[in-house]
Amino acid sequence: MGKELIKLMNVYVSFRIGGLFTKVLVNVLRNINLIIYDGETLGLVGESGCGKTTLGKVIAGLIKPTSGKILYKGKDISAMTKDEFLTFRREVQYLHQDPFSSLNPVQTVYTILSRPLIKHKIVDPSNVEEEVMELLRMVGLTPPSDFMYRYPHQLSGGQRQRVALARIMSVRPKVLIADEPVSMIDVSQRIGILRLLLDLRKETNMTIIYITHDLATLRYISREGRVAVMYLGGMVELTDVERLLTRPLHPYTQILLSALLEPDPNITRNKKVNLRSMDIPSIVNLPPGCKFHTRCPYAINGICDVKEPDLVEVETNHYVACHLVKGDLK
Ligand SMILES: Nc1ncnc2c1ncn2[C@@H]1O[C@H](COP(=O)(O)OP(=O)(O)OP(=O)(O)O)[C@@H](O)[C@H]1O
Ligand code: SF4
Ligand SMILES: [Mg+2]
Repeated sequence: MGKELIKLMNVYVSFRIGGLFTKVLVNVLRNINLIIYDGETLGLVGESGCGKTTLGKVIAGLIKPTSGKILYKGKDISAMTKDEFLTFRREVQYLHQDPFSSLNPVQTVYTILSRPLIKHKIVDPSNVEEEVMELLRMVGLTPPSDFMYRYPHQLSGGQRQRVALARIMSVRPKVLIADEPVSMIDVSQRIGILRLLLDLRKETNMTIIYITHDLATLRYISREGRVAVMYLGGMVELTDVERLLTRPLHPYTQILLSALLEPDPNITRNKKVNLRSMDIPSIVNLPPGCKFHTRCPYAINGICDVKEPDLVEVETNHYVACHLVKGDLK
């Protein structure tokens, strides 16, 4: 693994929700501890509402943690000078899920791509046009002259996502946080975007944080990557992609995999486990103890409903938060 690039320490995020007089505080992320290594691909998976987007935005500096620390290259981002924070924001880029709302509808592709080049003084002003063309070639929008003066509404969803990626690549990021980048794109264009992400990862050695419901696409982008499984704002399992697919240890991961993956003898041998209840607890009223105990088929009364398990390394590079999974599995 590369050097430590980003470190999250005891990160919590709470939001106030509800009406004027009925506001309640909900914990959307709870005690996230995570190291992201330079050049790695890290997937974030979990059911809708478990906090993947919030975590991605926290890592990108778009949402401030309610408590806890985020270090970038060893420096606490909340203690950075204005210039240091701007550099961090430039180096850690967030690709939105929705290519229809992420581009300014009144700007041409040329304006969208030239602005960051000029603002961050990436190239000499006389070379901006050539650089815009190079960026369009990089993301497969060729010939560039066909796309430079189009507006976002004159592009397909896949082409917009390519422009969004070109804008991100224009500032030479070190980290790309891709939040379900193909989920809102026509099925026929998805593989093209995934191939582009794969090529960019190989060519630039960028660190990629890939948020998805679909482990097969994560595996496509990086077989060597790691994956973190989230449940109701907490991290329940963290390990290599291949190991997670062949040897998931947390009951929730086992159930998630059997729901997400078609039976495929090459990639999963997870046993069939059924949920005790289909109802996901409300984030407004989280259960005590292990947050999964209301649905877990193995829950032990008096333990799982009382104490929340810590995320512990149960075998080398395999972290699990479950009272049943002990550290003597080797
Ligand atoms: N700004 C906000 N204010 C209040 N609650 C929020 C806010 N943003 C997110 N939430 C809540 O936080 C929880 C986590 O949301 P988040 O978008 O991070 O989930 P997710 O895992 O990305 O879901 P999905 O797979 O549907 O994209 C949800 O219950 C959501 O309703
Ligand atoms: S701690 Fe208990 S309830 Fe939670 S996943 Fe493990 S066995 Fe299930
Ligand atoms: Mg999301």
